[in-house]
Amino acid sequence: MSAQPKSAAKPPVTAPRLFEMKAAGEKIVMLTAYDAGFAAQCEAAGVDTVLVGDSLGNVVQGRESTLPVTLDDMVYHTAAVKRGLATPLLIADLPFMTYRDVDTALRSSARLVAEGGAAMVKLEGADYVLEVIDALDRRQIPVCAHLGLTPQSVHKFGGYRVQGKTKSAAERLIADAHAVEQAGASLLVLECVPAALAKTITAELRVPTIGIGAGVDCDGQVLVIYDMLGITPGKRPKFSKDFLAGSGSVLDAIKAYAKAVRSRAFPALEHSF
Ligand code: KIV
Repeated sequence: MSAQPKSAAKPPVTAPRLFEMKAAGEKIVMLTAYDAGFAAQCEAAGVDTVLVGDSLGNVVQGRESTLPVTLDDMVYHTAAVKRGLATPLLIADLPFMTYRDVDTALRSSARLVAEGGAAMVKLEGADYVLEVIDALDRRQIPVCAHLGLTPQSVHKFGGYRVQGKTKSAAERLIADAHAVEQAGASLLVLECVPAALAKTITAELRVPTIGIGAGVDCDGQVLVIYDMLGITPGKRPKFSKDFLAGSGSVLDAIKAYAKAVRSRAFPALEHSF
């Protein structure tokens, strides 16, 4: 049995296409995947973009955090996912400390693109990361920024908590969002931030925003595929929903998720902060 897609029925989704989708008010459907089998299900369900998240450290490797995930891990899983995809835009996470300076970030990203087949790389934060985003963008590697609850900062945050709740924290997040756009980001993930704040950021930016625990007004949504299939051990995060419950198959669950995102039925208030 092969997980390889035959050929794309639709044109491949590109970074410029995501800007067109935002301008047209079309919701962007993103899901994580870590292997060719689940990637092929995302392909068949019509997902727009697939993220090989360093969340694989948690859900695939069974670790406490994403911090031990290596660049070799990410290249391996990105290449596996690539073999299952033809249409969705493939994004790969730069793991902890692999973008600590411009030179390291360029080398790490080159591996994700050339060996893994990623069309975009994702990194967390603003601050020193801005010059990294600028350097990658100038070398024609599209970048997805990630703000709010950035899991690689878990020790600094003191746990996994909703971010941007105070006035000053919200102002800082808005400023960081503008800064990553200015630096050249092509996409912005907002994780675990109040829905009203994500709505403001989404309205102010030209760059599309993808929410996870950030309310329905982002330009798109992402979930960890293990969470939305209800197979992550332990308590499901508030922002997630088990789409396999009530669906007959993994494919139907992913289709239900895509439909719910496109119709704004997901996330509901109960999944938002
Ligand atoms: O690693 C990951 O899967 C992510 C998403 C949760 C956005 O960063």
